Amino acid sequence: MHAVPDPAESTEAPSQGAAPSAMSPIPIVHASAAVAARACAEEIADLIEAEPQCVLGVATGGTMTGLYGSLKEVIRERELDLSGITCFALDEYLGLPEGDPRLFRSVLETHLVREIGLLPAQLVTPDPALAFEDPSEAAEQYEAALAGAGGVDLQLLGIGRNGHVAFNEPGADPAARTHVLPLEARTREDAAATFGGLELTPRRAVTVGVGTILDAKRLRLLAFGAGKAGIVARALTGPLTPDVPASLLRGHRDLAVHLDPQAAASL
Ligand code: PGA
Repeated sequence: MHAVPDPAESTEAPSQGAAPSAMSPIPIVHASAAVAARACAEEIADLIEAEPQCVLGVATGGTMTGLYGSLKEVIRERELDLSGITCFALDEYLGLPEGDPRLFRSVLETHLVREIGLLPAQLVTPDPALAFEDPSEAAEQYEAALAGAGGVDLQLLGIGRNGHVAFNEPGADPAARTHVLPLEARTREDAAATFGGLELTPRRAVTVGVGTILDAKRLRLLAFGAGKAGIVARALTGPLTPDVPASLLRGHRDLAVHLDPQAAASL
């Protein structure tokens, strides 16, 4: 682990993404979540500049909101052309009405698509109505869409307090592709406030699998706050196990983990 100084206090560039070893990534501990978000946003902007047709894998959750704000700033500063990029979401709740603001599609339209100025068609999300009716057809369609786009160049990931990545809950099959699954109690508890109580919180979701995630060229995992310290330590320094789905990402050759000091406190 190494600390990355606040760029405001240092002229040294952070060694973001620097040669993380396949089995034990060296987490990048930034001075704050805002500094981490800025570093990730700069990397995404570099990718868009180098590969204007790139495919981004995007995530939802509080961790990502700040990142999308930073991305908006960087895109404006660099006057990037986004017309060639495509974004693929990781997952979606089932059982909510079309257009519900709590659907991840809606959240991403608000915090990403409108913020950075994409067309709605540049965001691809799993179809929750189809996933509800015909899980295998929905899964097949989503995998086909990902393959048709040439796969994900850079995948953003958060981590749940139970170690989930996307909605791959503990016990996840490391080779899994897109699928529908029941949500774990802890995941539903964490989402309950958004839905006005546990009883109203969706019980099922559609998610890309760990195998789908591992196909991305680059993985960028972000975790902020003391509440993530325990699971971050298990995911990065414990055994590679489906019990902690995020630990399975350590099998990827280009995984970088961005933390704030609080999330790194147990390392
Ligand atoms: P969060 O969610 O960013 O809201 O902490 C992360 C996750 O559950 O994957």
